[in-house]
Amino acid sequence: MPSEAALHQVRDQFPGLHENELIYLDNAATTQKPDVVLKAMDDFYKTSNANVHRGAHRLSDLATRAFEGARDKVQAFINAPAREEVLFTRGTTESMNLLAQSLGQHLLQPGDEILIDTWAHHACIVPWQQIAAKTGAKLVPIPLLNDGELDQSAYQSLLSEKTKVVSLTHISNALGKRAPIERMIPKAKAQGAYVVIDGAQAVAHEAVDVQALGCDFYAFSGHKCYGPTGIGVLWGKRALLEQMPPYQYGGEMIDTVSFEGTQFNTLPYKFEAGTPAIAEAIGLGRALEFIQELGIDRIAAHEAALMAKAKNELAKIGKLTLLAAKGSNHGALSFNVTGEHHQDIGILLDQEGIAVRCGHHCCQPLMQSLGLKGSCRVSFALYNTEEEVDAFVSALADIVEFLDD
Ligand SMILES: Cc1ncc(COP(=O)(O)O)c(C=O)c1O
Repeated sequence: MPSEAALHQVRDQFPGLHENELIYLDNAATTQKPDVVLKAMDDFYKTSNANVHRGAHRLSDLATRAFEGARDKVQAFINAPAREEVLFTRGTTESMNLLAQSLGQHLLQPGDEILIDTWAHHACIVPWQQIAAKTGAKLVPIPLLNDGELDQSAYQSLLSEKTKVVSLTHISNALGKRAPIERMIPKAKAQGAYVVIDGAQAVAHEAVDVQALGCDFYAFSGHKCYGPTGIGVLWGKRALLEQMPPYQYGGEMIDTVSFEGTQFNTLPYKFEAGTPAIAEAIGLGRALEFIQELGIDRIAAHEAALMAKAKNELAKIGKLTLLAAKGSNHGALSFNVTGEHHQDIGILLDQEGIAVRCGHHCCQPLMQSLGLKGSCRVSFALYNTEEEVDAFVSALADIVEFLDD
């Protein structure tokens, strides 16, 4: 997306950016949606609205094709070996709950350990913590180094024959740090642990190839990659998904039912109980195509340039502390203003028409480990511009000066 003209064309495709006169820098929370995604969902409801899989009629066939076509698009996007390994969920949170309930419940024994990084979102921590409490397993955090990176030597020494699950955040939503999962996954696999990757903040910013990564499970949410809310993905290796019991019961996950017992459906339907989010899956499929049409590498390069500019300019503002800004940050950058509450900074930026996120970012253990109550976070998407970064930095500099007076 190097040329300005091309950039404006992209921005024009996001009605949410034009309806609201603001500089939207809260993309890690959720992205705006392009016209093509809105149209794909609208078209579905207008031209092929029917329930999937069950109908004998033409409309149901159309709906089923569109819905299953979306699964194919997800498969291609993350280079999954088989479409049956792609499960639709409501989002990363549900993907993690599914895993903890289905895999965790049946795998974990008293004394077993689940290693989880300190960057982890509550959506990862809490499902594993709850299942640990039920099974007698232990949740063991991978600590941070002073610069906010994960402590790799601590990780290595925490891995043991007790480690059954390793849950890693691909890119931290609070700090924008990227875990070296290419190095971390083989270490966990060498111990025989199952590796779960939370890709919620990664899929919109870099190419993901689950086969090359060698993880066992990969989860993400549609709404953080230009798709709708209410839809997400859990990819898992077929052999594991086949062994795992269903997570919810009813509807499409059934093969045959009698009052004596139930035969469950094959993959992926075994894990998709009830009527799925059909329009949302179609919207997600279109969003992933949209990313591919633009080119994920071009998007990443554009966002990296915005990030470099923001870091460079923010470093000039006195009283401002950038969190974990040594090395690279991907998509998101956190900061605090000395002596000021992060919420106040967020409110003042909002008054200038700049949307950022302030708080603990659903990462309270991370904030505790950093000795903070929270932070302000800016996060970029493909449609953000250098002018927006300038406007944000200048507004923030004014706010800091104003508060100093
Ligand atoms: C890293 C990370 N994991 C998990 C989640 C949960 O995603 P969702 O609310 O879409 O289920 C988020 C959302 O902010 C996130 O940033």
